Amino acid sequence: MNLVVVSNRVSRGKANEPMTGGLAAALLPVVEKSGAIWVGSSGRVRDGSQKEPFAEIEALGAGALAMLDLPAAHYGGYYEGFANSALWPALHSRSDLIRASQEDYLSYREVNAFMARALLRFQKPDSAFWIQDYHFLALGSELRDLGVTQPLGFFLHTPWPARAVIEGVPHHRELIEAMLAYDLIGFQTGDDCENFLDYLRSELGLEVADGCVTSRFGKTRVAVFPIGIDPGKFAQQAAKAVSHPDVSRLRRSLHGEKLAIGVDRLDYSKGLINRINAFDRMWTTQPQLARTVSLLQIATPSRGAIEAYGNLQNELAKLVSDVNGRHGEVDWTPIRYLNKGFSQTVLAGLYRTAQVGVVTPLHDGMNLVAKEYVAAQNPDDPGVLVLSKFAGAANELDTALLVNPNDIDGMARTIAIALSMPLVERCMRWEAMMEKLQASTIQGWFADFVDALQQSQSDPCGPEPLLAEPPAPWPLRSVNSGVRYH
Ligand code: G6P
Repeated sequence: MNLVVVSNRVSRGKANEPMTGGLAAALLPVVEKSGAIWVGSSGRVRDGSQKEPFAEIEALGAGALAMLDLPAAHYGGYYEGFANSALWPALHSRSDLIRASQEDYLSYREVNAFMARALLRFQKPDSAFWIQDYHFLALGSELRDLGVTQPLGFFLHTPWPARAVIEGVPHHRELIEAMLAYDLIGFQTGDDCENFLDYLRSELGLEVADGCVTSRFGKTRVAVFPIGIDPGKFAQQAAKAVSHPDVSRLRRSLHGEKLAIGVDRLDYSKGLINRINAFDRMWTTQPQLARTVSLLQIATPSRGAIEAYGNLQNELAKLVSDVNGRHGEVDWTPIRYLNKGFSQTVLAGLYRTAQVGVVTPLHDGMNLVAKEYVAAQNPDDPGVLVLSKFAGAANELDTALLVNPNDIDGMARTIAIALSMPLVERCMRWEAMMEKLQASTIQGWFADFVDALQQSQSDPCGPEPLLAEPPAPWPLRSVNSGVRYH
């Protein structure tokens, strides 16, 4: 089989370059090994006069990377417009932030159609296409309109919200009907999958049996494939990275004080304002913790041309300076706030340096930072993960300290508990999480999806539906559940 992977953002595979967002970083090592062709946006635009879409093609591991210049007239409406100002807020249940014009929708459809035409040059009789994320909901149906008959798969890296929320997106019906051109649709969690199926049943009146649905395109299988990381590789990287100059400088600057770390794209879905407020609350209510712990918050700017992102950047900068102004001392800065990206190598070392990882999104498809933080820990002295129960990762990492990111007081208390957790409890929680990470790696995710995609036309419903099992019970519960390990 010749696999063609498609995503808006791609990665060129330079280990020491900063990478934005989980998707490109996660896909890179597996796509590189698989021999697939990875097609995405070059980040540049071109006017529409050229006959053939312009693609810069370079080798990537055993396969190739093709970066396309997208049409100048439609790029803004597609990327900043419909994809990131209508779909992204809806997928993250922020109906209040949905902004959508008819022009943006048309541009989104134009770019999906443009990508479909561009993909024809990579098509072989035994090709299969695997489309990633919300930028290309309609790409499958555009490919079918061009006569492509090969297997088409789609994976959504974000959450899929409740029906009433997605109904707030103009043209939702047309778009979701178009999604049914895919033979296989994958989600991160059972809840996302259920929300999608609920829409198909209630809004489109379709029958769903064993995760399979029939539409005018034929059968589509809908299933759960939680994305993972390569924990072994990340652990090695982290152990090595402790001697990286950035990491050693950080360690020296701490003078024995503890460190909590947050690493996020600067996005309203990440719950950054609530997180900073929780640290503020912790230092206010437990003043003995001042000078004993600081927060390193890396917030990499993203989608800055969109008003909601610009506003958030200003609000956060103001809040951090206010908190530092109130709690800081001449020789102590409570929050170290950085608006830049770091390579995976350096991040691995920073995670290992921090006694607490704070990953508290309001909604998140999976959140690979949570998994990377766990994998990066020193097995003899692991740090504690404070994790939002609304991140997909919480389904597997259920021995993290799970928090409600809207409950500022609860988060403040939980961070303080994390800071004083005894070694034996830290080890037990960490070992349980590592087991989960090892059982569900990025390599397994890739192979499972590709296998299911290969079977999708001959045996669309597969032997067993892949709906997620509820997590196995574990004696260590989240602190919010009231059951504590002694
Ligand atoms: C999330 C999305 C990805 C996206 C990434 C970075 O992880 O699911 O599709 O590539 O954010 O966002 P950006 O707009 O910078 O590509």
